Parts: sequence; structure tokens; C-alpha cells
Amino acid sequence: MSTSPTTPDASAAGSEDAPNLDFAGTTPYEDYVQADVLTHLQHLRSDDPGEMVFLVTTQVMELWFTVIVHEWETASRALREDRVPVAMDALQRSVYELESLNASWKPLARLTPAQFNAYRAALGEGSGFQSAMYRRMEFLLGEKSASMLVPHRGAPRVHAELEKALHEPSLYDEVLRLLARRGLPVPAAVLDRDLSQRYEPSPEVEAVWADIYADRDQHSELVRLGEALTDVGELVWRWRNDHLVATRRAMGSKTGTGGSAGVAWLEKRARKNVFPELWTARSHV
Ligand code: HEM
Repeated sequence: MSTSPTTPDASAAGSEDAPNLDFAGTTPYEDYVQADVLTHLQHLRSDDPGEMVFLVTTQVMELWFTVIVHEWETASRALREDRVPVAMDALQRSVYELESLNASWKPLARLTPAQFNAYRAALGEGSGFQSAMYRRMEFLLGEKSASMLVPHRGAPRVHAELEKALHEPSLYDEVLRLLARRGLPVPAAVLDRDLSQRYEPSPEVEAVWADIYADRDQHSELVRLGEALTDVGELVWRWRNDHLVATRRAMGSKTGTGGSAGVAWLEKRARKNVFPELWTARSHV
């Protein structure tokens, strides 16, 4: 039996506790969520039934990147203003979001080369390497590189956002500035570094983290901050490695659609440690 607003049935519109069915325009849900926009952005390029989940997984990951960038920008701002609890909340949320992001590898993790080949040609030169939101994540982690702006020259808004992010302090720069304001001996060369360059690990910063971790009583808040950052670093490292393994399964050692050496190039990227001194300091505590 129909449940349309014009011919409501008893279970839907008839009782007092039923939801509203009648809206003058689009539903308030649609006005907020824009589900109609979101669910009509799947423009497939092949007839292969497996392409849909490839495209949607990529879109889902782009949405998670967007949320995570938002959290890390919130955390960076809060650290700059010495509001550590606000930063901690944002970092903790980002840890759960990174776990969800990583869980979304599931549908693509076991693609065979034949399955991937069924739509690979349709991707042309398209590659996640060209994801501007992923690049903003990397910039926030301190992995800055001006050359990563080049692919986005043709997209003014994206290029402007990336250029701003390139010159802003990363999340980790804000953490180190906070440590310096708390009286810890972060070297001036680290604090005054050229922000548009990749962050290079410093033995003095490693020693600062080792001292923080060695004295939990005096530095309990900073230890918690260090651990939240370590969670973030671990989960980003896991994303890179899950991506690497999925790629290895789907295409072996072929070159990537983005023109790189493929797996060999991704292996190098995946080897990098996020927030390096938080890992190396552990040997000295
Ligand atoms: C199993 C399917 C996938 C394969 C085979 C694959 C393959 C590759 C390859 C070979 C590269 C290196 C650049 C190139 O030459 O293209 C790359 C980079 C990248 N891919 Fe994927 N990819 C897959 C799925 C995804 C998904 C779902 C995302 C989500 C957005 C993604 C995001 C990225 C990013 C962000 C990079 C750049 C990494 C960096 O800059 O370190 N990939 N991918």
C-alpha cells in the first residue's frame, strides 16, 4: 500500500507519534545533508560493476580527509592560543576518524589485477596523488613541498588553499611552539624554520620529548598530547601501508596512473615516520 503524503496509511501519518511527511519544498534533511547532491556525484567511466565501489571509496576517503584537516586545523589554532584541552578533543576525534578512514580500505584491499584492469584505463592519468585534501593533511603533518602545488595550477580555489597551508605552521610546528612557551629548550632554528619546507627531525627536539616522557608527574598534559600525536602518526602510517599493500595486490610493480614508479615510489613514502622525534625519543626514556 502506498505511503505517499497524498494517500497516507495509518502507520505513517495517522498516529500522533509518526514523523512529519509534509514539507513545502525539499526536506529539512536534504537542506542540511544535501544527500541528493552527494548521491549523484558517481559519474562512472566504464561498464564494469566493480568501478562503483572504487569511486565511492575514493570519495568517502576524500570526505574523511576533509574532516581530519578540519580537526587538525582546529587543534593547531587551539594550541596557538594555549587551549590544550580543546586541541586534545580535536586530536582525539581525529584518531577515531582516522580509524574509520582506514577501515574504508576493506572493499578495495583485495582487488586482483584483472578486477582493477577492468576499469583502470578509464581512470586515464587520474591518481590519488592529485588529491589536494590529502596534500593538506600531509602539510599539516609537516610534510611540506612547494612542488606538490604544481598539479593544482589550473584550479584557483584549491591552489590558493594549498598555498596558504604551505606557508602556515603545521600542527607539529604549533606543538613545538607550545613546548617552547612552557619553557622547554626547543632550538630557535626549529622555531624560526622556513615553514614552507619539509620538517626535518632535530636531536634537540628528540631530547625534549625524552625529558617530557621521563617526567610524567611534571609533564602529564604534554605526555597526553605526545601520545595523542603518536596515535595520529601511527594511524597515518597505517593508511599509507594499507594503500601500499592494496596497490601491490591490484597492480604489482606496474607504473601508476599518475606516472610514478608505482609500488616502489609508494614504499619510499610509506617508510617516513610522522612526527619523527616522538618515535626516536622512546629509545632514550
Ligand atoms: C587499489 C586501488 C588503488 C591503487 C592501485 C592505487 C595506486 C596508487 C599509485 C600507484 C600511486 C602513486 C602515484 C601514481 O603514480 O599514481 C598512488 C598514490 C596515491 N593514492 Fe592511490 N591507489 C589506489 C586507491 C586509492 C584510494 C582509494 C585513495 C583515496 C583517496 C588513494 C589515494 C592516493 C594518494 C593520496 C596518493 C598519493 C600518496 C602520496 O603522495 O604519498 N589511492 N596510488
